Amino acid sequence: MTGRVFLVGAGPGDPGLLTLRGADALRRADVVVYDRLVSGEVLDLAPPSAECVYAGKAPGQAAIDQEDINDLLVQRAREGKQVVRLKGGDPFVFGRGGEEALACARADVAFEVVPGVSSAFAAPAFAGIPVTHRGLAASVAIVTASGAGGEPVELHRVATAVDTLVVLMAAGRLAEVCRSLIEAGRSPIEPAALVQWATTSKQRAVRATLADLTELAAQAGIRAPATLVVGAVVNLSALLDWFEGDGRGEPPREGSLRAAHAQAPALQGAPALALSRSRSR
Ligand SMILES: C[S@@+](CC[C@H](N)C(=O)[O-])C[C@H]1O[C@@H](n2cnc3c(N)ncnc32)[C@H](O)[C@@H]1O
Repeated sequence: MTGRVFLVGAGPGDPGLLTLRGADALRRADVVVYDRLVSGEVLDLAPPSAECVYAGKAPGQAAIDQEDINDLLVQRAREGKQVVRLKGGDPFVFGRGGEEALACARADVAFEVVPGVSSAFAAPAFAGIPVTHRGLAASVAIVTASGAGGEPVELHRVATAVDTLVVLMAAGRLAEVCRSLIEAGRSPIEPAALVQWATTSKQRAVRATLADLTELAAQAGIRAPATLVVGAVVNLSALLDWFEGDGRGEPPREGSLRAAHAQAPALQGAPALALSRSRSR
């Protein structure tokens, strides 16, 4: 009997953001092929008997070649196994989930897709930034700053086409990305934020104008994995920054970032704030 491949989105980091369907697939897995940004707590849902294969991808490279990952999924499913391909965020958002689904389809192996909470939405949300907001942003685009081989991506075409831009894989070439967005017509004083390790105890963020963000992010030492958000909605983080590090929405402590924000001037052109959080649990 042929098994089945489940392309499961593990979410952005906090294990509480894994879907019930994803957890169910993991609990019944014979084989789990997982990526670098998948949390250990999510992986622990797999039975101890499950074969766990690390297919971790550092930016621009893969521990296992993509073709070999595809072959492994197909081969194990043909052995009758339930195979979970566990990927950070959502498998179909810059996750090569489409390539793996195609490999299964071509090999006539049954597969299911279990969407995950993408960092493209979770990172802004956990930094208090709604990606759309009536009167501020009626459109949003999710783009990557790095192509399949790690090469820079041409951002001019999309730069001014939408109100809010969410840019993944931008941390390593932030200066270039911000510069090309400005050259393409976004205002240098437009608010922007870079959110690192969103949803986890290591979450940190920097908020500045598009022109100043690179310098502030460098000073704060913010690197990948980080998500860049550009647009007027970033201003809302002054009022909506809610994450205290435990992901449960408890009220902010006195002297917290929200209190600091409350005293900050309207963000257009306002001084940047470097934010740092730690989990209290
Ligand atoms: C290869 S893409 C995978 C995206 C993933 N499929 C998703 O839907 O979130 C990796 C990029 O996602 C973003 N990312 C992933 N996890 C993140 C996190 N916890 N915080 C901020 N950004 C994250 C970063 O931009 C990182 O470079």
